[in-house]
Amino acid sequence: MIDMETEIRGFDAHTARLAKKYISAGDVVAFHTETVYGLGADARNDDAVRKIFTLKGRPADNPLIVHVHKDYDLSQLIDGEPSYAPALRKAFLPGPLTIVYPSIDKVSRLVSCGGNTLAVRVPSSPIAQEFLRAVNVPIAAPSANLSKHVSPVTAQHVYDDFQGKIPLILDGGACSGGIESTVLDCTEEVPQVLRAGLVTREMIASVAGDCGVYQMAAGEKPKSPGIAYKHYSPRCKTALFAPDCIAGALNLYDEEECSGGRAYILCESALISGINGRRMLDLGATGEEMANRLYFLLRDGERDATLIIAIKPKEEGGVMDGVLNRLVRACGGKV
Ligand code: TXA
Ligand code: MG
Repeated sequence: MIDMETEIRGFDAHTARLAKKYISAGDVVAFHTETVYGLGADARNDDAVRKIFTLKGRPADNPLIVHVHKDYDLSQLIDGEPSYAPALRKAFLPGPLTIVYPSIDKVSRLVSCGGNTLAVRVPSSPIAQEFLRAVNVPIAAPSANLSKHVSPVTAQHVYDDFQGKIPLILDGGACSGGIESTVLDCTEEVPQVLRAGLVTREMIASVAGDCGVYQMAAGEKPKSPGIAYKHYSPRCKTALFAPDCIAGALNLYDEEECSGGRAYILCESALISGINGRRMLDLGATGEEMANRLYFLLRDGERDATLIIAIKPKEEGGVMDGVLNRLVRACGGKV
């Protein structure tokens, strides 16, 4: 059902006024960031924040990240911070690092689902900065995809999920980062990675002295609910193979083709020469390249494929932690 016209616009003075008008009225506006597109609303406005959850079909217990421009006064959002936090901001912000601070009742309680922390992000995308400066309020924003669908890395991806449901998409082209920001818990003595991303555990430890990685214990309520949900899935069947199981992947490909389906193999560039004559989605060679391409390829693939068969890249650690986490959750356990 189409409720309104959805405009896709680059940023200029007129767009800034439009964005400000919509946000002030409690509407939801999508915007480019360097990681993935966000679906933003005034974080202080209960009804506006509720709209985000409804539009996405997002579970009510999964908190949102608040976005601000780089000169925003952080003391308006947080209640203290550990001594290592300023150095992390200096090293990595603006950029793809979200910091979880102690915070109570600074914005709508719906943003943090009633918890006593707040996740704050200062994106480096010039479009995001212009937008956040124009509205000059904290903007609560999850990734601009329907819940469980692949995160959007172009304005068209956002349009595909929300056409007729939101008035405006701020188009900044393709997102260079390609996977969501690193989420870092900074409420305790040692920072802890809740969600891996382009700012790696190693990079954080080199600034803060130490950095842990959150592992959810069986039966425990997750510290960051988002990590517990199945996510990022393309709208076709998927399968995931270990790097040493290429023969199995090719067998499955051939079976799918024999039964009239259209299969694609998603893998790192190094494997391509051994998989001649089949439909391919090329992830590239480095961790950064794979992060940049993954969601784009999943969105591209799902338009034509009945089955996407992913082969896990061999490399681990650093940026690959974030890439592998997304790949497993997108393609693991569906076939
Ligand atoms: O790159 C990004 O972070 C993108 C762009 C739009 O900024 N946003 C994004 O938002 O990925 P979303 O809602 O898709 O993911 C937010 C993640 C979830 O896993 C959520 O559970 C976690 O951050 N989170 C949010 N607030 C939290 C909090 N107070 N404590 C712990 N985890 C939190
Ligand atoms: Mg998301």
